[in-house]
Amino acid sequence: MAKRIVIASGKGGVGKTTVAVGLSKALAAREKRVLLVDFDNLRSVDLMLGAAESVVFDWGDLLLGRCDAEAAIGRAQGIDFLSCPPRYDGFTAQQVKALMKTLEANYDYLLFDAPAGVGAGLRLACAAAQRALVVATPDPICVRAAFRAAEEMESWGVTNSRLVLNRAVRRDMQKKRLLNIDDAIDKTGVQLIAIVPEDKLLRKAGVEGICQPYQLSFEAFYNLAARIEGKQVPLAFL
Ligand SMILES: Nc1ncnc2c1ncn2[C@@H]1O[C@H](COP(=O)(O)OP(=O)(O)OP(=O)(O)O)[C@@H](O)[C@H]1O
Ligand SMILES: [Mg+2]
Repeated sequence: MAKRIVIASGKGGVGKTTVAVGLSKALAAREKRVLLVDFDNLRSVDLMLGAAESVVFDWGDLLLGRCDAEAAIGRAQGIDFLSCPPRYDGFTAQQVKALMKTLEANYDYLLFDAPAGVGAGLRLACAAAQRALVVATPDPICVRAAFRAAEEMESWGVTNSRLVLNRAVRRDMQKKRLLNIDDAIDKTGVQLIAIVPEDKLLRKAGVEGICQPYQLSFEAFYNLAARIEGKQVPLAFL
């Protein structure tokens, strides 16, 4: 049975898809079989995997019987992925949960890239998830949104959340231009599992996809993957 993890944040643009793709690549590097499912109907997983041209079907088509899983699931950079339908209405939490259960036999991990906000897309992703990664950048607006997202997910039964602090810049945190790590943990109320540094190669992720080497942040994603696998890896940053 695969581990099913939703990646959420509340606030938009904080790095959910970047973390979802980075973690997928890190798990694949650890020889894990990963299916990355896009639950954002604005869709960005295919773009960040550099595979936009190859997408024909999405999980909505699969649920409506318009294609089989083989046709719907794309593959790029060692990761299988499934795109999001343009609308959520018409799909129930039960249907999505049942679909993910049929898919999980072939995978070690199902990762769900949630949309911004705490609406229908996140609700559907949570229906099929066992645990969550809550992504926040170290600023008060993002950590408040992360707190709300974690709270909402808990009310939907996803009680096991961990915080991924993204775009961390050591000097700015030390000089209090950004929240420090303890403040971020306190204000989200979520236990920290990873700190991903600001990485200038990742700034181009939305435009160029995450194809090229991105050493600075990859170590953080690799360590996150190891921690999710249950390994003890120190959280060294400051
Ligand atoms: N660690 C990082 N270092 C530098 N840039 C980053 C980092 N993480 C994310 N970014 C930048 O932030 C942009 C937004 O990231 P991303 O699309 O992953 O956010 P998101 O939370 O998924 O957004 P949305 O809410 O729209 O789905 C990326 O295109 C990338 O340029
Ligand atoms: Mg996204």
